[in-house]
Amino acid sequence: MPMQIPIRVDGQRLWESLMRLAEIGATPKGGCRRLALSNEDRMARELFVAWAEEANCEVSVDRMGNIFARRPGSHPSLAPVATGSHLDTQPNGGRFDGPLGVMCGLEVVRTLADRGIETRRPIEVVAWTNEEGSRFAPPMVGSGVFAGVFDLAYGLGRTDADGLTIGEELRRIGFDGAQDIGSHAFGSFFEVHIEQGPILEAHGKRIGVVSGAQAQRWYEVTVRGQDAHAGTTPMDRRRDALVGASRIVTELQSIGAATTDGRATVGVMRVEPNSRNTIPGEVFFSIDLRHPSDAALSDMAADMRKFAAGVAKDAGLGLDIHEIYYAPPLPFDPGAKRAVTSAAQSLGLESMEIVSGAGHDACHIARVAPTAMVFIPCAGGISHNETESAAPEDVTAGCDVLINAIVEAANAPTA
Ligand code: HGY
Ligand code: MN
Ligand code: MN
Repeated sequence: MPMQIPIRVDGQRLWESLMRLAEIGATPKGGCRRLALSNEDRMARELFVAWAEEANCEVSVDRMGNIFARRPGSHPSLAPVATGSHLDTQPNGGRFDGPLGVMCGLEVVRTLADRGIETRRPIEVVAWTNEEGSRFAPPMVGSGVFAGVFDLAYGLGRTDADGLTIGEELRRIGFDGAQDIGSHAFGSFFEVHIEQGPILEAHGKRIGVVSGAQAQRWYEVTVRGQDAHAGTTPMDRRRDALVGASRIVTELQSIGAATTDGRATVGVMRVEPNSRNTIPGEVFFSIDLRHPSDAALSDMAADMRKFAAGVAKDAGLGLDIHEIYYAPPLPFDPGAKRAVTSAAQSLGLESMEIVSGAGHDACHIARVAPTAMVFIPCAGGISHNETESAAPEDVTAGCDVLINAIVEAANAPTA
């Protein structure tokens, strides 16, 4: 049967798969809680593997637990065109952040099989390990090790708040794969994702052609004071670690707001001894700084460090600031981006270029293969929230763009 261009996917089947997947770790307000390598993540992984095998894909797992579902091409020796995203979610996450990209990849291979379309290059659908960086920091560890950003020992050794490592948890859930890391190159990589911000919706656009991602720096901060009695210790005799930490957190709001595109967030805080009538002697908290400009991000980091040191000195507190992650601003590949733009045009879909505020696995994969992303809007730009939602027609549109970009890339003549 001649290949009808543009190719269109089965949006109903895609939506049903997304909703079936969302039942795993479903939360009362309609979101998902599937922390990396939890039992819920294991069930989602097993469902994805089962679906991929039903779609006649050959499934393999590498030593970081990244899952690869491979659809053969007519030229098996050519590096595959890959697509995918992640199955893990935030603690109060939504149904689309991550799963959308994996299910769109699955729908691509399902549609190609339905239509009997053979591509030159093989196609691989990937589910990357620990993208969110919520249970195990930093984020995008599975794709980071695959791309050589982190080494395998670092990746397997990352621990959660209970001291469990990624390696131990991969073994526990049965996804400690045998495939060597980075053992196969990609010809190119495409990721579909919700924008997680308000720009597409504000511009009335259905497709975002992602030009790149902003820079980010993650820190772990410990402020040390002195445990003391809440009733007997005069205010001028205290070394209250929580008061010191709170001053730093408040200043971070000003640092983030100092430039239009700056972002500063404290998401985790642990207070010790966490007792109502003891002055906190130690506080641990996270800092997530982002900016599209590397120089502006460095300025934000310098301002944070300077202010925190001043607070510690004035209040006689101990201070440790440890940078645990840095990702520079990252441009995506012009050729891969063109494939996305031309796919949108062939479908009569209006698109716009957009910089990603969020980090994605594609940001690491862009270091080892020509990479591009396809964004679709999400309601109110809300994400990392149980109410995260996307319209079925936008989900279908994003996948239609994906399959046409992939087929173009998979059939492009090789030198
Ligand atoms: O943090 C991020 O941007 C992504 O959700 N991991
Ligand atoms: Mn994501
Ligand atoms: Mn996310």
